[in-house]
Amino acid sequence: MPTLRSLRRLLPYYRPYRRSVAFGLVLVIFAAAFSSVVPWLLQRALDGIRAGAPLRSIWLLGGAMIGVTLVGGVGRFLMRQLLNSVSRWMEYDLRNDLFAHLEKVDPIYYARMRTGDLMARLTNDLSAVRMAAGPAIMYLTNTIAGGAFALGFMLHISARLTLIAAVPMAILPMIGLMLGRHIHARFEAVQAHFSDLTTLAQENLAGVRIVRAFRQEHAEMERFAALNEGYLVKNMRLAHMYGIMQPGFSIFAGLGMVAVVGFGGILVLNGTISIGAFVAFGMYLAMLTWPLIALGWVINLFQRGAASMTRLLDILDAKPALSEPAAPRTLPAAATGRSIEFRNVGFHYPTEQGQPTRWVLRDISFSAPAGATIGVVGATGSGKSALMDLVPRLFDPQEGKILIDGIDIRELSIGDLRRQIGYVPQESFLFSDTIGSNLTYGTEDEPAGRWAAGVAQLDETIDAFPGGYETLLGERGINLSGGQKQRAALARALARKPSIVLLDDALSAVDTHTEAEILRSLRETLAGRTALIASHRVSAIRDATWIIVLDEGRIVEQGRHGELLAAGGRYWSLLNRQQLEESIESDGAGELAAASD
Ligand SMILES: Nc1ncnc2c1ncn2[C@@H]1O[C@H](COP(=O)(O)OP(=O)(O)O)[C@@H](O)[C@H]1O
Ligand SMILES: [Mg+2]
Repeated sequence: MPTLRSLRRLLPYYRPYRRSVAFGLVLVIFAAAFSSVVPWLLQRALDGIRAGAPLRSIWLLGGAMIGVTLVGGVGRFLMRQLLNSVSRWMEYDLRNDLFAHLEKVDPIYYARMRTGDLMARLTNDLSAVRMAAGPAIMYLTNTIAGGAFALGFMLHISARLTLIAAVPMAILPMIGLMLGRHIHARFEAVQAHFSDLTTLAQENLAGVRIVRAFRQEHAEMERFAALNEGYLVKNMRLAHMYGIMQPGFSIFAGLGMVAVVGFGGILVLNGTISIGAFVAFGMYLAMLTWPLIALGWVINLFQRGAASMTRLLDILDAKPALSEPAAPRTLPAAATGRSIEFRNVGFHYPTEQGQPTRWVLRDISFSAPAGATIGVVGATGSGKSALMDLVPRLFDPQEGKILIDGIDIRELSIGDLRRQIGYVPQESFLFSDTIGSNLTYGTEDEPAGRWAAGVAQLDETIDAFPGGYETLLGERGINLSGGQKQRAALARALARKPSIVLLDDALSAVDTHTEAEILRSLRETLAGRTALIASHRVSAIRDATWIIVLDEGRIVEQGRHGELLAAGGRYWSLLNRQQLEESIESDGAGELAAASD
């Protein structure tokens, strides 16, 4: 049997509800006990009638049967309410924990995990765990209690008859288990297929313009129809399995009945047991059928829940590689920005075991005095983004250290460190919310958002929107152009009034003219702040106080614009090539430049 160990990790989630669970389980046993009394009452009534008992006592027995059934029913109802709501609450707690964990894991975790996979864990796996935590426990207790009571009465009536009936009945849990496994496999296949189908539909909806422009409607329709047919077939296979289940169980339960009627009949005829006992025995046997089927089913629920829990634990046990210092140091107040220093920094992404490490940055040393603007320039892939990511500790370097105002950033609390930083990533991501809320993300400071929009030259664009700052972005709102998105991301970073500003190729989608204008107004804003500006375009960083030229993760040149030009090295050739490209483009011969790539 596959291991159920992972389910042990659910125990802490029971803690807040342990009273409800205990009470619910007592109710399960209580309800099972009450139900099992009914056949015994019937036996008494039948044998009483044959022995010519007074009518009153028969009525009394009838009344008792109704009463017992009612009480058992109420108990069963309460237990369902109780245990189901406990399992829902546990699911709720677990879901919150999972999300909280996902907010903490390293960015690299998301590079390994597909979003669709994470979503599946948060939905399908979570509900499988809930089934194991609530309903499965309830069925198991019910099965054991109900089965034990019925079996007790049956043994009391006739041990021999019980043995005879038990043989075909023992097969029931085995079929339950087997069928359950097949159904589970087919169900998984249906689910997997469904996610392919929805992915295709979703991509077609999102990429509707591409589909139309490339005249692929027919091809897409055919692809969809094929997937849809596969989905139908898999669903039919599942339904087929469900179809077999019911009659399959009936056959074996029926065999048990046949055995009882045959041998039980003989026992009645030779007077070993009474007619009433014979009828009651049949009823107990019928009562035993469902628990025995459920047993196989329940084992399945546990196995499924355990498998799902293992997948959830993969999230819950993912430890963030970043550690908070035990006794964080605090940064002194700074009016004129903060100094940043890289000291022999070397960094590589996590590598799989056995693979050689590929350093992304090596021997990076430079120092930016408070208030300085450092330009980082280099070809794509030279490591500019990696260098930027190290400052807010999105990753930690494996070699060397980074100091802010002379303090190793690993000695600061992560919150304190990141509060200092306004980060504009290379890929600008905005939330599907109003443009205003996007600008004030993390500050809720509206005037600051408007001021920052001005610096990023976005204010006129926003004023022209139908809803101004209340305009919705994203799927149900306006789609900003690449350059507008970048400017919004810049404004969002500035609105926090950070003492350190990181721009990672943040204006790459803006034309050189607008870029120059934004940089001009940025220069005023950046006074009193320290800035790292990474760009593959020399034009964006030529006015920086200090320029670092990166190539394949190493600093190959550094200095001021004039000095670097005079040196006639890598910087000079980068600038030359870019100026040439620009002049070709402005001559209206863009094709030429494209052809020369
Ligand atoms: N998640 C990752 N895992 C492994 N390598 C990566 C990852 N992200 C980027 N790289 C590699 O790191 C190098 C530096 O990339 P990057 O810092 O983005 O360069 P730049 O910003 O200068 O274009 C590139 O060779 C890139 O392929
Ligand atoms: Mg980059």
